[in-house]
Amino acid sequence: MRTIIEPFRIKSVEPIRMTTPVERRSLLERAAFNLFGLASDDVMIDLLTDSGTSAMSAAQWGAVMRGDESYAGSPSFYRFEKAVKNLMPFRHVIPTHQGRAAEAILFSIIGGKGQVIPSNTHFDTTRGNIEATGAKAVDLVIAEGHDPASLHPFKGNIDLGRLESLLQSEGDSVPVVMMTVTNNAGGGQPVSLANLHAAAAIAHRFGKPFFIDGCRFAENAWFIKCREPGQAERSVEDIVRDMFSVADGMTMSAKKDAFANIGGWLAVNDDTLAAAARNRLILTEGFPTYGGLAGRDLDAIAIGLEEIVDEQYLRYRVRTNEYIGERLIALGVPIVRPVGGHAVFVDARGLLPHIAPLQYPGQALATSLYELGGIRACEIGTVMFGQQPDGSEKAADMDLVRLAMPRRVYTQSHADYVVEVFEEVVARRDTLRGFRIVSQPPRLRHFTARFEPL
Ligand code: F0G
Repeated sequence: MRTIIEPFRIKSVEPIRMTTPVERRSLLERAAFNLFGLASDDVMIDLLTDSGTSAMSAAQWGAVMRGDESYAGSPSFYRFEKAVKNLMPFRHVIPTHQGRAAEAILFSIIGGKGQVIPSNTHFDTTRGNIEATGAKAVDLVIAEGHDPASLHPFKGNIDLGRLESLLQSEGDSVPVVMMTVTNNAGGGQPVSLANLHAAAAIAHRFGKPFFIDGCRFAENAWFIKCREPGQAERSVEDIVRDMFSVADGMTMSAKKDAFANIGGWLAVNDDTLAAAARNRLILTEGFPTYGGLAGRDLDAIAIGLEEIVDEQYLRYRVRTNEYIGERLIALGVPIVRPVGGHAVFVDARGLLPHIAPLQYPGQALATSLYELGGIRACEIGTVMFGQQPDGSEKAADMDLVRLAMPRRVYTQSHADYVVEVFEEVVARRDTLRGFRIVSQPPRLRHFTARFEPL
């Protein structure tokens, strides 16, 4: 059959409140044209993020009821730990309330002034937590990873030559080599198994531990199965174990590939590091058998980890984004190719060449998707990255808009609707105008800046 159906039935629904373009125009004005300022009830299709927005399964909701809220030694923790170790057999698994808490704990121990931490591309919270300790975060993704048109199958790969020369020149300052799978900041692009193994081998040759930011590990493993020579016959579970077999530790946000609405963990093999991390955890998150979570959250994650490696689910998941991507390309909408695992990244600067980068083409596209269709997407461009520490402003490398797909939430007709809204945007693109920022905070302005249409 040609149609890949959603591999689930729907037992519980959340109604979508229908709104009109006129209504949405006034809601936009009230939010000063910042989509973070909208109430989510006023959004029809929310593609702001795939993080924490998954639909949990009946089995997960059942597990929630089984959650045991004991302060210490809860059976929920042991079920969680067993599910993590089944896929990622690290000696120590330390729960946290989300991914950035695991990062903060890790880098508070191994970061610090003068340290240098390479990765393919650090996600912004990872970079933020590294830099907050005074250390330097270095991105070493392959050149194809910077080229939106390159069809390289593993655009998340790290440049092994540059990794090796960094370790040769600054090795004494490198406490860990990291790798983000999939590479979110680079468009949700996967890393090949060969590249993971090679990067780990280089790290180990220089005596450095190798850590994986595993947020979207299952999507990455699916891409390995589909695209990497010799991997097609292996199960996703087997590939996942292989990916983590070369690592000495990991950070994780369970809000992505664990189908949970909250949660994360830090896992390590090193006993001394684990002891230091648990001491820090007790200070900032909670006792080591719950981290920052309720027992019921740990149970939801345990079941989510069993469900996420289901190949029927992963086929549908990755295909949904590819489908939207193919149809956008057919409309002449430029996108980052190939389509990543969790999102379609639209090149707003390419679509709206008459809007200068400092007039925020990404913001123009994102606000018009909302006004015309009630879709909320996320600007990843000059609004997000253009603000300089000295208060000046410069154009970001690219002006993208990310359509991040929540897991198991939307159906094929929602995807078709998104494409239709783009059709409308394309028909009117010459009439779209840029924006001016009327007020902004000193840092991370995209969350709260106020805009005025030009
Ligand atoms: N690492 C990656 C690759 C991520 O994508 C994220 C979150 C984190 C770490 C931090 O995890 O949110 O649980 O603290 N990404 C979300 C996003 C926010 O929308 O891409 P967290």
